[in-house]
Order: sequence, then structure tokens, then C-alpha cells
Amino acid sequence: MRKLERKKAWLNDIPVAKYEQPIHSPILEIQNVSFGYPDKQATLNNVNLTIHRGEMVSIVGANGTGKSTLGKLICGFEKPISGTLLFNGKNGNNDSLKMRGEQVGFVLQNPNQMFSKHIVQEEVGLGLLHKEVSPDEVKLRVEQTLKVCGLYPFRNWPISALSYGQKKRLSIAAILVMEPSILLLDEPTAGQDYKHTTELMTFLESLQTQGITIILITHDMHLMTEYTKRAIVLSGGQIIADDSPAKILANTELIERANLKQSSLHALATTLHITDHERFVEKFIQFDREVRLNEQ
Ligand SMILES: Nc1ncnc2c1ncn2[C@@H]1O[C@H](COP(=O)(O)OP(=O)(O)OP(=O)(O)O)[C@@H](O)[C@H]1O
Ligand SMILES: [Mg+2]
Repeated sequence: MRKLERKKAWLNDIPVAKYEQPIHSPILEIQNVSFGYPDKQATLNNVNLTIHRGEMVSIVGANGTGKSTLGKLICGFEKPISGTLLFNGKNGNNDSLKMRGEQVGFVLQNPNQMFSKHIVQEEVGLGLLHKEVSPDEVKLRVEQTLKVCGLYPFRNWPISALSYGQKKRLSIAAILVMEPSILLLDEPTAGQDYKHTTELMTFLESLQTQGITIILITHDMHLMTEYTKRAIVLSGGQIIADDSPAKILANTELIERANLKQSSLHALATTLHITDHERFVEKFIQFDREVRLNEQ
């Protein structure tokens, strides 16, 4: 078979997985939300977004477009100037930080900023001390969470002895023990190598299968494509696309407008004279996923 025909056959032997609206109910609805820091122009401008229970969604965009600010509004660290955030259909605009924290867990970029205890299991139990939870239940929930996060064998270790990847999982454990229904992670894999990234993302995928809704704020186009079926593109404080990552990457005009980094897959498709970039990206990612799963 000629090279070109082989390429075409490879490309055509899978159905393209299109992003379809999940049938699950909305867990978070952001309606006409605008926000600006004091003495600054509007940072977020009329944002509308619905996230469904159990989804894993990425929020992407260039530096300074308002991704982390949107995260702060979702977590209740900031309040919208106008518009509404609904959680499970209920207006959450007047939620206290504590109430919001029970629904949304925010994992900061740098795990070291999140620890205040010395020993692993003490850190995980810390958030529960301020709640009306019996000591027996604290113990049980801490143990379960440590097991889910693969940290149970290290429960009596000093945090300083953990690797970076383990610390990242510990920062997630300290949030998960509070049983939030939405987990929001700001640049979760920044500064981590391929192995740690794969480990962390596989772990997040396992949380998602347990019904936790996951929102990833990321600069990493590969992460967006490989692990999420839906991506929200922010530009200048507005949502300019809400689609499957492959479709977003195939849209050159959108990539330029949002100042996103073009994926190397796009360049490869051009070199190979493949015109259907969306299908190529989907196919490549599917292939990559299979290789990764076989390696585990
Ligand atoms: N606490 C703050 N006070 C005033 N302005 C802020 C504050 N935090 C962020 N900003 C400004 O708001 C805008 C959006 O910032 P934000 O951190 O949300 O962007 P981002 O998309 O997360 O960027 P990055 O990709 O660099 O993390 C930027 O112009 C930033 O300078
Ligand atoms: Mg940011």
C-alpha cells in the first residue's frame, strides 16, 4: 500500500469521538458573571458556563486572561460584581467561604503553600478538626483518603520526606477528605515531568470515575487534549470557545485569537499533508492513550 493510502487508512479506522453534552445534571452554572479587581478594568466579562456532575473540563487561555480569577470566583475567594453562580441549582452568591469550601476544593499550584503540619496524616485530618466530626470518623476518613491517594504507607512520614509528586497528592488528599463535589486544580502539572504528570492525571481520572467533578486550569495543550473531553477557552476575560480539545486545536484562527500555543500535532499534520487536523489529533491522542494504558 502506498504511504498516503496507509496514512488515510490509519486515520479512518476509528470513529471520531465528538464532544457531546453530558446527560448529567448541572453542578455549577455561571450566569452573566463579571468581575474586576479594584482600580482595574473588568477581568471577567459576562461569563456564562455550565459544568455537569462528573465532568473533567479544562480551562485554557493565555497569561492574564482571567483563568485563576474565574477559579477564585468558583471557590468563593472573590465575589462577582454582577451575575450569579449556581451550585446544584441554588444561588451561591451569598455563600460564606466555609460553605463554598464544602462544595469546591481548590488545589493551589504549589503544594508547599498548602501544608501547615509536619506529619502526613495530621495534614490530611487538619480540615476535619474544625468540623463536627467525631474522632473515630476523622480517623476513618483520613485513612480512606490516604488509601485513595496512594499515601497510606507514608501516613507517619514527615511531609518534608515526600517526593514532589507525593506532596501534590497529599495536597489533593487534604482537600478530598472534606468530600467536595467539585475539585478545581490550578496548573496541576506545572513543573512536573512526564512520569509525575501521567501519575497525577491517572489519579484524577480515577477520582472522576468515582463521580467527582474536575476542573483543570492549564497552559498545557497536550494535557487538555489527552485528559479532557471538553475545553473552555478564555480570552480577554470572555469565553470564546467551549468545545472538544481536538476541534479547538484544529481551529487556527481561534488558536491565534486566544494566543494559545499551537500543538506540535498540528504541525505534524501539515507536514504529512493531512487536511483533516481534527481527526488526526483525535486519532493520535487515542493511540497515545492506548500506549499509556498498556504501559501501566
Ligand atoms: N489580586 C489581584 N489584584 C489585582 N489584579 C489582579 C489580581 N490577580 C490577578 N490580577 C490581574 O487580573 C488579570 C487576570 O489574572 P489571572 O491571574 O486571573 O490570569 P490567568 O489567566 O490565571 O493568568 P496566568 O496564566 O498567568 O496564571 C491580570 O491582568 C492580572 O494582572
Ligand atoms: Mg493563573
